[in-house]
Amino acid sequence: MRTPFMAGNWKMNKTIAEALAFANEFRGRVANVSDVEIGLAVPFLTIRSVAEALQNTRVKIGAQNCFWEASGAYTGEVAPGMIQEAGGVFTVVGHSERRQYFGETNETANKKVHAALGAGLEVILCCGETLEEREADRTQAVVKDHVVNGLAGLGPEQMASVTVAYEPVWAIGTGKTATPDQTQEVHAYLRGLLEGLFGADTAAAIRIQYGGSVKPANVKELMAQPDIDGALVGGASLEPDSFEAIVKYGQ
Ligand code: PGA
Repeated sequence: MRTPFMAGNWKMNKTIAEALAFANEFRGRVANVSDVEIGLAVPFLTIRSVAEALQNTRVKIGAQNCFWEASGAYTGEVAPGMIQEAGGVFTVVGHSERRQYFGETNETANKKVHAALGAGLEVILCCGETLEEREADRTQAVVKDHVVNGLAGLGPEQMASVTVAYEPVWAIGTGKTATPDQTQEVHAYLRGLLEGLFGADTAAAIRIQYGGSVKPANVKELMAQPDIDGALVGGASLEPDSFEAIVKYGQ
């Protein structure tokens, strides 16, 4: 019942020219994909060109972050409405790199989630533990903290526009993937948590993505897990070949 959602996260990669080269190459490759939702979270400056190049395809373009106010004296920030005007339809919020390098907290993530949804964007809210936290057996406590506080104040109807991404920090960009079993355990825990927050029907409909060194070689076994509904893909989304293979994991 949940349509798988494969989203690339380009992070701080690709100039406009490089982004367009990707888009023009990628377009035809996913023309026949109908059973998977596809997203690309690209740098702000490339949203417009990539969205235009991928018009009338199933590929949704989004941002990797946003600010929580609609306009004003916030030097260097980008408002959700600006993302939307440029052609973006979603934004990632609370990525671990934002938490680690840019002071993102559950509180700021929550403000961004509300602002993004209010401006009509969909949201991918990230959660995940560090290696230290996993070794201290704190994985569930950490993802609970990220999700409960990140989604605070939302009602079940708003959750139709929210995807949760579980990204263990120790698996991001390291080549270490959580095993499918380890991942499923956290996803099932998250599903239960969402059920407590929003009710069984809503929780059953929310996509929970896995992120952290997802590659063509491991995507299939991850997607075979009952509560893994897609992937948030960093490195392997930068090349049309590998992202195509991930999107077409089921073919
Ligand atoms: P990775 O990044 O696929 O390069 O590990 C995932 C992410 O940070 O979203």
